[in-house]
Amino acid sequence: MLDIVGLCGSLRAASLNRMALKLAAASMPPGMHMEIVEWRELPPFDADMLAAQGMPSAVLALRERIRRADGVVIATPEYNYSIPGMLKNAIDWISRGEDQPFSQKPVAILSVTPGPRGGARVQYDLRKVLLYVNAMTLVKPEVFVGDAAAKFDGAGLCTDEATRRVVAGQMEAFGLWIAAVGRMNG
Ligand SMILES: Cc1cc2nc3c(=O)[nH]c(=O)nc-3n(C[C@H](O)[C@H](O)[C@H](O)COP(=O)(O)O)c2cc1C
Repeated sequence: MLDIVGLCGSLRAASLNRMALKLAAASMPPGMHMEIVEWRELPPFDADMLAAQGMPSAVLALRERIRRADGVVIATPEYNYSIPGMLKNAIDWISRGEDQPFSQKPVAILSVTPGPRGGARVQYDLRKVLLYVNAMTLVKPEVFVGDAAAKFDGAGLCTDEATRRVVAGQMEAFGLWIAAVGRMNG
């Protein structure tokens, strides 16, 4: 069973991105399972804190969870055309140290917004940051869910058939990508 960690770029209780992450979890092909991991306890990145006390326990736990995973799915909104600060902060913490949990790790990205473009701009900024940490980010299919408020119901379930199909297709491609990265790494 492939162990997948889901990270949501929004802390909001009613987050559309968390709904999409749950849709991705439910759409996984047999042999893949996603656990959505919450990370709101992470403090703001502080190099002095790191030097004086080492990694905070919440960071250590998240780094270890990512290290153990076969892959990571990130669903994120776009904030001011870019990565939400809290998500970037989490990646900044994770990226410190010799042992790099994201290195060679398969990652899939989806972005969800109530606006029409579905986070078209945030994804390329996130891909750039994931490149630095040497993640193996799935190239295609790209998944942008725009007008998302109309695509999920009050229970957080996706009512839009096209979105369900696209997300399921991405999860299928992600399973193949994890296998390909595994072969590449021997
Ligand atoms: C600080 C901030 C900046 C935002 N900037 C953008 C933006 O650049 N593009 C966009 O499509 N939506 C933007 N939005 C709207 C978010 O896409 C919307 O709030 C979305 O629902 C957040 O995702 P969530 O539902 O997962 O919490 C912004 C929202 C906030 C709070």
